This record gives sequence, structure tokens and C-alpha cells, in this order.
Amino acid sequence: MNNSRNITVDRKQSHVETCLNKPVGFDTKTTGFEQYEFTHNAAPEINFCDIDLSTVFLDRTIAFPFMISSMTGGYAEAEHLNRTLASTAEKLNIPLGVGSMRQALENNEFRQSFSIVRQEAPTIPLLANIGAPEVAKGLSDRDLELLLDIIRADGLIVHLNPAQELFQPEGDTNFKNFLSRLRKLTEAIGIPVIAKEVGCGISPATAARLCDAGVSVIDVAGAGGISWQKVEEERYLQQFEHDRRFSPSALPELLNWGIPTASCLRGIAELKQKEHGLFQTAIIASGGISNGIDIAKAIALGADMCGSAGMMLQALHKGKLEETIVTWMNDLRAVMFLVGAQNISQLKKTLISLTK
Ligand SMILES: Cc1cc2nc3c(=O)[nH]c(=O)nc-3n(C[C@H](O)[C@H](O)[C@H](O)COP(=O)(O)O)c2cc1C
Repeated sequence: MNNSRNITVDRKQSHVETCLNKPVGFDTKTTGFEQYEFTHNAAPEINFCDIDLSTVFLDRTIAFPFMISSMTGGYAEAEHLNRTLASTAEKLNIPLGVGSMRQALENNEFRQSFSIVRQEAPTIPLLANIGAPEVAKGLSDRDLELLLDIIRADGLIVHLNPAQELFQPEGDTNFKNFLSRLRKLTEAIGIPVIAKEVGCGISPATAARLCDAGVSVIDVAGAGGISWQKVEEERYLQQFEHDRRFSPSALPELLNWGIPTASCLRGIAELKQKEHGLFQTAIIASGGISNGIDIAKAIALGADMCGSAGMMLQALHKGKLEETIVTWMNDLRAVMFLVGAQNISQLKKTLISLTK
């Protein structure tokens, strides 16, 4: 095993362990969903049994507007995690993203830890994943073909993670030329490209630049869930103890850096309204989504879909993945009944207001 290969394999494994065992949530910031409230509808005029949660994502009808966000792959134990994530997503008919596939480009060991998802999930939308620094360097046609073939991907997620790379002991902080390379990628690829943060959020201005580069979907992955600065800080301390020569300081403002998920959604929804016709990109709300009520609020604030990673990992670890997702689905249905929304299109038009 060469050195770079070792680092990538160890990193993916330590991300899962750190997320499960260390306090890596934002602590001075929330998603902002708690600041919003629906108005109760005492006369909903719908039959609870007729509520339809289904929606269309990447031209496929899925059970409800929710996906399991990108997490893992690229080391031996990841095969087991991805197998369970994929079989559950297939059973519930919801999309699934795999973790960064950089390792699979570096060598063919552990490719099965990615390809298992298509074996377990033949029908749902599956999303490949690669980082902005790899896109900025330029992916070859061969790399691209390989990434998509391994899981027979329906879309490619490009994750934007400057804060994570900044705190990562072995991080790659060269994002130069990213947007022009992204434009080339979206023109060449032939399937939708999704631009996604990992917990620091996407502002309306950045969303507009990403749309201009041709992305079809934006996943805001805002602040309020896992802080990837904190995850990398934990890894940094394990490697370098308190020697800060290679990392920013652990100031709370930096560890909690990012735009709360609800603020991202509100800002992008306002921009979409203003720029009507120019800005058709679909929006995924993720970053700290923690129940079905958050999903309902995100949809009413302008999202088309929601995603979760950290909570899904915790649920998987406790053997409660399917149960958790079904509970979120039921709670979304409950909110829809109480606001009188029979389907997701009606929920999108439902009024939601700030509580203060
Ligand atoms: C263990 C783990 C590994 C992750 N690896 C990736 C990755 O490889 N690529 C990516 O785009 N996001 C990755 N993420 C980030 C999530 O997809 C998500 O954007 C982020 O954690 C915020 O959402 P959350 O608060 O629901 O966890 C990972 C998340 C977890 C928990």
C-alpha cells in the first residue's frame, strides 16, 4: 500500500469513528429551523389517508423528499455500512449518496465497498461523489467514467468543503480554477451534477455562481449538524497533539463557522423568486436535519428535498436506520395533515413564519 493510499483509507475510517464517538456537533449555532413555525390549520379539509409524500428526484418518483447523504466507502468495513445503507434506501425507495470516491481513483482495492450499493439497490437514484479540489485539478475522462461506472450513478455530487480541508491535517486547500473546471465537467458529463457543502452552507451568491457553472442541484449542507472543522480538529489533535503549526487555532468562531441551514434556504429561495426563469436549480436541504418536522419546514422554506448523514450514521450504529427514517416520514405526514397540505407541492406553498 503506498502512502497516499494509506492516508485516504485511514481518513475515511476515522471520519466514521470520530462522528460516532466525539462531540463534533456545532455548539454555538443551530440549523435555525427552531425559529420557524407553521400556522395550525384547524380545518384542513383533507383526508389523512390521502396524503401523498412522494416526489420526483432526478426524473424518478421516490417515496418522500429525503435522501441519505454521502458518507463512506474506500476501506474494508465501509462495505458493510454501505450494504445496509443501500438495502434500506432501496426498501424505502429513497436516494443514497456514497462517500468521496477519491480512494477508488487512487487504486482498485476496496472498490467493492462502493459497488455494493448498486448491487443492493438496483432501482433507486444513486449519487457518486468527488471533492472540489479533485475537480479543480481536472478529472480525466477515464476518472470520470470510472467514478460513474462503479455504482452506475444517476448523478455526481461534487462536495465543496474549504473549511474541512483547512482543518484537515492532510487537507488540500487549492480551489483555484474550480468553477471553470466545474463548468467543463457539467458540459461533458451527461448526467446531473449536484454541488454540495458538508456543513458550512451555500450562500445565495455562491449558489448563483454554481448555477452559472451548470449544476442541476444544490445541496446547501448548512451549519447546525456536524461541524467538519471539529471532526478534523479531533483528528489533528490525535496526530499533532497541541502543535498548531499546520492548523488554524481552535477558536469557537472557526470551529462553528458556517451559514445555518435555514438561512441558506431562505436566502436561495428569495434569489430564486427574484431571478425567476434564470435559476431553475433544485435545492436539497441538509446539515442538521434531525426529524420529520425539520423536513416539513425545509420544504416550506424552499427546499425540494432533504438529506441527512450524521443522524443516519447514529441510527445505523444503533440498528435503527429503517425505524428512524419511517418515523421521520410519519412525522412529515403528521405536519402535512395539520397544515392541510395533501401533497409536497401544497406543502411547498404553505406559509411558515419566524416565531420572533
Ligand atoms: C462519516 C461521514 C462521512 C462523510 N463523508 C462525506 C464524503 O465523503 N463526501 C461528502 O460529500 N460528504 C460527506 N459527509 C458529509 C455529509 O454528507 C453531510 O453533508 C454533513 O455531515 C452535514 O450533514 P449532517 O448534519 O446531516 O451530518 C460525511 C458525513 C459523515 C457523517
